[in-house]
Amino acid sequence: MAKQSGMGAGRGRTRQTGIYLRGLGGEKPGVPVQVAALQDAARRKLAAADFAYIAGGSGAERTLRANLAAFERLQLVPRMLSGQPERDLSVALPWQTLASPLLLAPIGVLEAAHPQADLAVARAAAAENVPFVFSSQASVPMEECAAAVGDSARWFQLYWSTDDEVTRSFIRRAEACGAAALVLTLDTTLLGWRPRDLDLGSLPFLRGQGLAQYLSDPVFRSRLAESQSGGSRSGEPLPALQDTPPATPALLRTAAQLRAAGKRFGLSFREMQNAAARFTATYTRPDLSWDDISRLRQWTELPIILKGILHPDDAREAMRRGANGLIVSNHGGRQLDGAVASLDALPGVVAAVPGLPVLLDSGVRTGSDIAKALALGARAVLLGRPYVYGLALGGEAGVREVIQNVLAEFDLTLGLLGVGAARDLGPQHLAPASLPG
Ligand SMILES: Cc1cc2nc3c(=O)[nH]c(=O)nc-3n(C[C@H](O)[C@H](O)[C@H](O)COP(=O)(O)O)c2cc1C
Repeated sequence: MAKQSGMGAGRGRTRQTGIYLRGLGGEKPGVPVQVAALQDAARRKLAAADFAYIAGGSGAERTLRANLAAFERLQLVPRMLSGQPERDLSVALPWQTLASPLLLAPIGVLEAAHPQADLAVARAAAAENVPFVFSSQASVPMEECAAAVGDSARWFQLYWSTDDEVTRSFIRRAEACGAAALVLTLDTTLLGWRPRDLDLGSLPFLRGQGLAQYLSDPVFRSRLAESQSGGSRSGEPLPALQDTPPATPALLRTAAQLRAAGKRFGLSFREMQNAAARFTATYTRPDLSWDDISRLRQWTELPIILKGILHPDDAREAMRRGANGLIVSNHGGRQLDGAVASLDALPGVVAAVPGLPVLLDSGVRTGSDIAKALALGARAVLLGRPYVYGLALGGEAGVREVIQNVLAEFDLTLGLLGVGAARDLGPQHLAPASLPG
């Protein structure tokens, strides 16, 4: 399919009409268009632990629900008779123009959804001309994804390891593979309390999943060699898998998964055990501070985008420390349960940092949601779980359909609002009574 230009060129109608015309021949869309049906179909297809990891939130999942409720509450007010036959979906960031105000959020462990994982998503994003944010917890090394999609736009998301040399190595690799921006995630200095995963006793990383950036990293790998020769910086081997042969079916499965991951990266079973343990012990820094942001500023010339900002004072400090953009996000309700909904936090953050691009994720499900976030001042949004459900159901083609549906609805939403360009959305398109705060 040809790349879409910034002009909507009737994108919404083309998608809509295509579906209806194919329907005349009895054909249904490859993945459900309805949001709830999409999630439900993925739930039916995936293993329980994989679906739990993707869909679950932290605690009582209050923030997960609050994200969606905030979009439910906010209401649009269309203007009549200001016909806009063509809509311009493009938006500008200081370092890059986006064909539409949509990116694919960094999502770890995509192999839980589909064996082609990040590679399928990278290809789909490239085909739809939507930037994909490669995750630190990816299932495919960033170089492989970059090589598969030529010069298509990609960003890289970083978790700051307790081992600075690993962090710097990730940054160098992101620069070398053409990332246009570096997204530093701030809200995961500890892993949130996730009851769905806890009830299943399931953390994918311990089975070697979602570790591709680490297992392919020269610095991380050199630490494994150190730990084999008694180096002190490694985590301990996983107790459940130590020495005695794995006896239960579950342990046998885990051992097979670790072996398979090791084989892909030329690591022995023992090294894989060390790698999983070392990862768990080092992947994030509970004591990350604002001074580290200043250090990061010295380390790279890539635009730095801080993900997880919810308070206006943090937004101001980020700007002082040289951040080039912010992502208002609560990690899809997976970290601090009870945290404010992203959409509710957005206006305060936008007002605090005039001129700095503010993006949003957490709860974006439809094209109409994109319009609401932009009307509240977001420059663009990141789509999360819905594309993972598309991946689970249809691989690369499934992700493409989800992107096409969301952007088609966004285009039609602009048309129905009477707005000719995404950048023209503003508070004038929102019902005052539904505004947060
Ligand atoms: C399964 C899963 C894995 C995720 N992994 C990461 C990650 O590796 N890095 C990161 O910054 N955010 C990660 N996130 C958070 C997303 O980037 C994004 O903030 C979130 O999905 C938005 O919420 P929504 O999907 O409900 O809209 C993950 C989210 C999910 C659902």
